[in-house]
Amino acid sequence: MLKVGVVTLFPEMFDLYSDWGVSGRAVDRGLVHLSLFNPRDHAEDAHRTVDDRPYGGGPGMVMMYRPLQRSIQDARMALPGAKVHLLTPQGQRLEQADVQALARMESLILVAGRYEGLDERLIDAEVDQQWSLGDYVLSGGELACLVLLDAMTRLLPGSLGDECSAGDDSFAHGLLEHPQYTRPEEVDGRRVPEILLSGNHGAIRRWRMKQALGRTWLRRPELLERQPLDAEQKLLLEEFIAEQGQSSV
Ligand SMILES: C[S@@+](CC[C@H](N)C(=O)[O-])C[C@H]1O[C@@H](n2cnc3c(N)ncnc32)[C@H](O)[C@@H]1O
Repeated sequence: MLKVGVVTLFPEMFDLYSDWGVSGRAVDRGLVHLSLFNPRDHAEDAHRTVDDRPYGGGPGMVMMYRPLQRSIQDARMALPGAKVHLLTPQGQRLEQADVQALARMESLILVAGRYEGLDERLIDAEVDQQWSLGDYVLSGGELACLVLLDAMTRLLPGSLGDECSAGDDSFAHGLLEHPQYTRPEEVDGRRVPEILLSGNHGAIRRWRMKQALGRTWLRRPELLERQPLDAEQKLLLEEFIAEQGQSSV
């Protein structure tokens, strides 16, 4: 079981994780256990203040050191040995390989920032790793934690059931996934590619591999630079590129 502690000022937002869909089922099946820690429980005044103005002036508020530190300590007590991961736009860009590595951990602690972020001294003192979802700024780290949690959960064995698997998903093997189709065979004059109706599993596998390589080449060429291709894949990609040339003549 993966044990995750989340340090957040908005624990209610994590109902979205525990009550719905794949992640809700994973919680029910005991594949993952989520515990929530609220820094406000460690505020030291009657107003339960957890933020204050930034030294040096400027707009916004900063999350105070002490309430957050105590909340992280609560999480450490509940999850001994767990590393602390802060979600922040200034962190390392999160990729599928990172999600795979995190999902293999026994336990981890996620910290969601708010306002202008955390007092830097707390990051120095308590945080092991910083992750960013991308080069844009969210209002709070809760959605970022939920994204990371969701991505990890669908990798846990048993979370997706027998009917589907994360093994062919985009990025699982360094490529975007092939296109998908379902019934009916024709809709608004658009037909499913004939090969998918052929029942020829070898041909379907090759077609899907070619499409995965081709759309990665078209949409995310930088992924192919990192991806060693075997002889069959090289051939399929060459075929795809040649077909592109023909279709644009
Ligand atoms: C408004 S942001 C703070 C941004 C901060 N002032 C800065 O410019 O780096 C509040 C919180 O949202 C979360 N957050 C915002 N954007 C994020 C991103 N791209 N990835 C991960 N977390 C993010 C972080 O937890 C952050 O502390």
